[in-house]
Amino acid sequence: PRPIIIDTDPGIDDALAIMLAAASPEIDLLGIVAVAGNVGLEKTAPNAAALADLLRLDIPVGRGAAGPLWRRDTKPAWDVHGEDGFGGYTLPASTRVLEPGVPLMARLIEQSADPVTVVAIGPLTNIAGLITHYPETARKVERFVIMGGGTLDRLGNTTPAAEFNIYYDPDSAAKLFDFGVPITMVGLNVTERALVGLQHLPDLVASGGPAAKMVEHMMGNYHSEPTEDGMAQHDSVALAAALDPSIIETGHYFVDVENVGRLTSGMTVVDFAGHSGEQPNCDVALSVDLPRFRALLNTRVAQLDAR
Ligand code: BDR
Ligand code: CA
Repeated sequence: PRPIIIDTDPGIDDALAIMLAAASPEIDLLGIVAVAGNVGLEKTAPNAAALADLLRLDIPVGRGAAGPLWRRDTKPAWDVHGEDGFGGYTLPASTRVLEPGVPLMARLIEQSADPVTVVAIGPLTNIAGLITHYPETARKVERFVIMGGGTLDRLGNTTPAAEFNIYYDPDSAAKLFDFGVPITMVGLNVTERALVGLQHLPDLVASGGPAAKMVEHMMGNYHSEPTEDGMAQHDSVALAAALDPSIIETGHYFVDVENVGRLTSGMTVVDFAGHSGEQPNCDVALSVDLPRFRALLNTRVAQLDAR
C-alpha cells in the first residue's frame, strides 16, 4: 500500500475523503493533520480527532496552522459546512493528545520506508510550513495531491477567479507550486462535476453503521450548491486520485498562483499554451471517471462499518 498523510480542514467533504482513505487497502494512512479553513482550527483539529476515533484509526492526529500565512481577510465556509464543520453532526469528543502538525508531518515522512504521498484537501498553510521549516524532508515527498484551484470554465467558488482552499491562503499555495516537487492539482473544473448524492451510495446507506449515519446526516446538511445529481465531493476526488491515478485524466502544465491581484487573488493560472516559457510543474486534473468515482465511495465506505 501507498503511504499517505492527509492534510485537512474537516469539513464535510473532508470527512468523506478520510473515510474513503480509511476504507481503502491501496492506502497506508500514516496520519492526519488539521489546518484552519472551512472552520477554525479550534474545530478542525477536534473534528479530525473525533473522526479518527469513529473510524478506529490507530494513527497520530496533528494540529497545524491556525490561519493563513499572510492573508487576514478570509472567512470560514460556515454556509457550506455549518458552524461546527460537520453540518451539525456531533461526534463524541476525542481524548487524543494532538501533536504539533507540521513536525508530525515531517516525522512521518522521515520514518516511512517508502516515499509518502501528501493529500492536501484544505488550505495549504501546513504544506508551506513543511517546505519552509523542513525543506529536505519535503523533497522526499513522492507527490502532493491537492484539492484546490480550477481551470477553464470552473475557476472559482469563492470569488469569480478563486477556489476556497487557494483563496484562503494563496501565499502558501504559491510556495508549493514554486517548490519543484511533483504535484497533482484536482481543481473545481473536475470536482464540481463529481456530483454525489445518497442515491449513489445505496450500499453505504444500507450498511447503517456509525460512518453511514454520519454520511447520511452530512449529505443532508452540506450546502455545496446541491443539484438533482447530488453535491460536489471535492476532497474525495483528490483522495481517489491518490489511491488510483487512473480515475482522473491529467495534463502536464506550468501552474502559478496569483497572490497579489485585485480581482484574481487566489487564482490558479494554468499555462496551457506555454506562453510563460516555464517548465511544467503540475499534473492538472482535466476529468474524472464519475461512475467509477461514485462506485468507489459507495462500496468502500460501506465496508467501514463492517470492519
Ligand atoms: C474545497 O473547499 C472546502 O470547502 C472543501 O472542503 C474543499 O476542500 C472546495 O473548494
Ligand atoms: Ca477541505
